[in-house]
Amino acid sequence: MSKDNRILVTGAGGFIGGHLVKAFREDGFHIRAVDIKPFSEWYQLFVDVENLTLDLRNLDACREVTEKVAMVYNLAADMGGMGFIELNKGACMLSVLINTHLLIAAKEAGVGRFFFSSSACVYNGDKQTDSNVTALKEEDAYPALSEDGYGWEKLFSERMSRHFREDYGLVTRTARYHNVYGPHGTYKGGREKAPAAICRKVIEAKLSGRREIEIWGDGKQTRSFMYITDCVKGSRMLMESDFADPLNIGSSELVSINQLVDIVEEIAGIKLERRYNVSAPKGVNGRNSDNTLTRKVLGWEPSTSLRDGMELTYRWIYDQITANASLFSKWSWDGRTAPHADRSQVFSLDKSTHAQLEEYQL
Ligand code: NAD
Ligand code: GDD
Repeated sequence: MSKDNRILVTGAGGFIGGHLVKAFREDGFHIRAVDIKPFSEWYQLFVDVENLTLDLRNLDACREVTEKVAMVYNLAADMGGMGFIELNKGACMLSVLINTHLLIAAKEAGVGRFFFSSSACVYNGDKQTDSNVTALKEEDAYPALSEDGYGWEKLFSERMSRHFREDYGLVTRTARYHNVYGPHGTYKGGREKAPAAICRKVIEAKLSGRREIEIWGDGKQTRSFMYITDCVKGSRMLMESDFADPLNIGSSELVSINQLVDIVEEIAGIKLERRYNVSAPKGVNGRNSDNTLTRKVLGWEPSTSLRDGMELTYRWIYDQITANASLFSKWSWDGRTAPHADRSQVFSLDKSTHAQLEEYQL
């Protein structure tokens, strides 16, 4: 694709969307970045990118953002880890409006390619009952028994994308992401997934001196976790490929949650007493990505080791937490600067949008 053609990234204020914008920007592409959140809450914001705050559940907003766009990467969704998706099924299902309206608008605007970010949560729950799970192949989404709420929305939107391709000729690509982690993502507030949540909890224990950690479930449940740079690479490769069906983009390095905690403890240089909360949201007992088809189609699969990716993630979350602590102490003694959760919010108070963007640039 010519670098003069515009790429639309939705959910650009979020974790994966923010990293995609960064990667396209570094490669010199013309980017339109859209999110419902105010700029002060974007994880990554770049001055030299066209940034918009819009609610993409609305068809008119989708029409506006798809104008003169060659490719759409749809990363926008109301989502989170188990703590969010188990308790917000209605909200998760409403993300169907985003993908549906974006598809309609993309078709009308003659967009060249459309990428949908689906999830391993589409897979049949009956195939994920054992922590010693057989890795999931793409065909394991059927017969359908997806994760209630969030997973069903993803499965429906996969099919919607497929039918827009078959009926209207819109070229669509669908990635089934397996749990993605890394810097510049959610690590607190209720939407965080296990890798970031465990980092935060270990850091809090280290800083507070309370040498214990709460783990949801019995810790024996298993997952594979994909580092963000692999996610960005796999997404771009899939979009550029000729492969039209949903494809796993996920790590195949299976670990238990206890093993994930071991890794973070080792990075932090600390040992904690583990308390298991078996009433907390747990999801499936085991989930892993079978990458046979991914290797065949893309000649590639995610390769960042969990240990390496977690080290980078831990360092970023540690910096966020300790930076916020120092902001708070500053506020305590000068009585003027409000204690905000992140650096960008501190600058958002009374500046024009353009000046804000310059301040936020990372
Ligand atoms: P994220 O929550 O960090 O980013 C999603 C962004 O979408 C948020 O910034 C949010 O504000 C935005 N958004 C929500 N509703 C919107 C609306 N109505 N209009 C415009 N923007 C809206 O999540 P993420 O981890 O970056 O996930 C990106 C995509 O990948 C999502 O579709 C998600 O379901 C999918 N996915 C992610 C994972 C993962 O582990 N991170 C796994 C499977 C699938
Ligand atoms: N979030 C979280 N926080 N999970 C914890 C914690 C904690 O403090 N402690 C243990 N866990 C356990 C959960 O109970 C669950 O069994 C496992 O860690 C993984 O939880 P998450 O990372 O929250 O979610 P998931 O892997 O079940 O599902 C995620 O990945 C899907 C793709 O594979 C979600 O983010 C989905 O939205 C996503 O589509």
